[in-house]
Amino acid sequence: MNALITGANRGIGLEFVRQLIIQDVHVFAAYRDSSRTGQLLKLQEEFTQHISIIKLDVTNDQSLAESYKLVSSKVNHLDLLINNAAISQGEQKFGTFELSKIKSVLEVNTIAPILVIQQFAELLKKGKHPKIVNISSGLGSLNRATNPRNPRMSIYSASKAALNMSTIHMAHDLLRHKIAVVSINPGWVRTDMGGPDADIDTNESVKGMLQVINSLKLQDTGHFYDYTGETIPW
Ligand SMILES: NC(=O)c1ccc[n+]([C@@H]2O[C@H](COP(=O)([O-])OP(=O)(O)OC[C@H]3O[C@@H](n4cnc5c(N)ncnc54)[C@H](OP(=O)(O)O)[C@@H]3O)[C@@H](O)[C@H]2O)c1
Repeated sequence: MNALITGANRGIGLEFVRQLIIQDVHVFAAYRDSSRTGQLLKLQEEFTQHISIIKLDVTNDQSLAESYKLVSSKVNHLDLLINNAAISQGEQKFGTFELSKIKSVLEVNTIAPILVIQQFAELLKKGKHPKIVNISSGLGSLNRATNPRNPRMSIYSASKAALNMSTIHMAHDLLRHKIAVVSINPGWVRTDMGGPDADIDTNESVKGMLQVINSLKLQDTGHFYDYTGETIPW
């Protein structure tokens, strides 16, 4: 089985790499910044046969095309794509919005996953029970947004709600190719993005998400899951 994970050099992405290797998956672990690949390089030393480290800035067309060229020169199919890379830009309150920050959140979190899927679709079409997972957030649930206790991260939340909408549309578009597309909320996780006070560690989050991913069937396409396996209302 072959998997591609974006933003795989730290946090949840890195933990996906660790746990998929143990499941005997060959992982294309994508990083953006060459100076931050230390943990991936260590893993590669130990699991040489299981990891290919590739450069992919998901907001850069050329990087996308080059990463596709590299992956398709090594394998003729992908079975799993995890659109994990994202940014939050911290709290975003009304009155402090900045165009450049809003654009970059939407570019990385919403637009890039669509283009990554489009770029790698040919390899996924040839996969065995292929799956695409968009890592979303509970904050992307319109249903949950009415909770006044939610953190004030309106642009990040909007970026994930829009990502969820694209999950539904991609699920329709790719159904005829038998590719399942879902959104998954990883929970509130102790990473650079989630901070030290978050509820769970990356091990628990990714373990839960992989249980969901491994049991996904084509008829589950177009759904929004929690890492616990619960369905989340859009
Ligand atoms: N942590 C949480 O509590 C939480 C909750 C809900 C949802 N999520 C979601 O879970 C996913 C992983 O989050 P995390 O907590 O692991 O975040 P993180 O620790 O901040 O890691 C983010 C990853 O995304 C990469 N990235 C950012 N911009 C990129 C770009 N343009 N091209 C390629 N890679 C890029 C980063 O690479 P660099 O190292 O180069 O910056 C890094 O590898 C995200 O989709 C996030 O929205 C997290």
